[in-house]
Amino acid sequence: MLHQAKRKRSLYSLIFAGIILSVGCVGTKQTEADPNSIYARLGGQPAIDAAVELFYKRVLADKSVNHYFEDIDMDKQRSKQKQFLAAAFGGPVPYRGKNMRKAHAPLDLKESDFNAIAGHLQATLRELKINDKLIGEVMAVAASTKDDVLNK
Ligand code: HEM
Repeated sequence: MLHQAKRKRSLYSLIFAGIILSVGCVGTKQTEADPNSIYARLGGQPAIDAAVELFYKRVLADKSVNHYFEDIDMDKQRSKQKQFLAAAFGGPVPYRGKNMRKAHAPLDLKESDFNAIAGHLQATLRELKINDKLIGEVMAVAASTKDDVLNK
């Protein structure tokens, strides 16, 4: 008897916990970014998408680094980069690609390659008239990937 009552009680607690959890999930909108995030201040996903398109135009026009992308499917690359940056800037969608260390390890990249890519990112943001403070924040995020990208 006592055993049965205990089982019933734990079943009720489980149902109760389930209800609380689902209410919590409905309450937090998973698709909205923090308005203070770099993601939101840049203008959300459409702005990041536009920046990545311009960024790769610059990268592919640069003879010092474009050879790395010779055999790369650039549609996939652009889409992975859009997702990576959105997530790194505090956007609501997680990055599902390879980690930076694994993705770049076979390329044996040098400091000068990293600086060229970072320079194209900065030039892109200037072209889009993003303010200097926000560009600084974006460049700090890019710099935070440097050791992984260069496999240091
Ligand atoms: C700010 C620094 C960088 C970031 C945030 C970045 C981001 C990314 C991302 C998200 C991917 C896709 C990974 C995947 O396949 O899931 C990738 C791949 C790649 N990146 Fe970078 N990258 C950076 C620097 C560089 C540099 C300096 C180069 C060369 C000059 C480079 C060349 C490549 C190439 C060639 C691939 C394709 C690798 C493959 O598919 O086999 N990246 N990068």
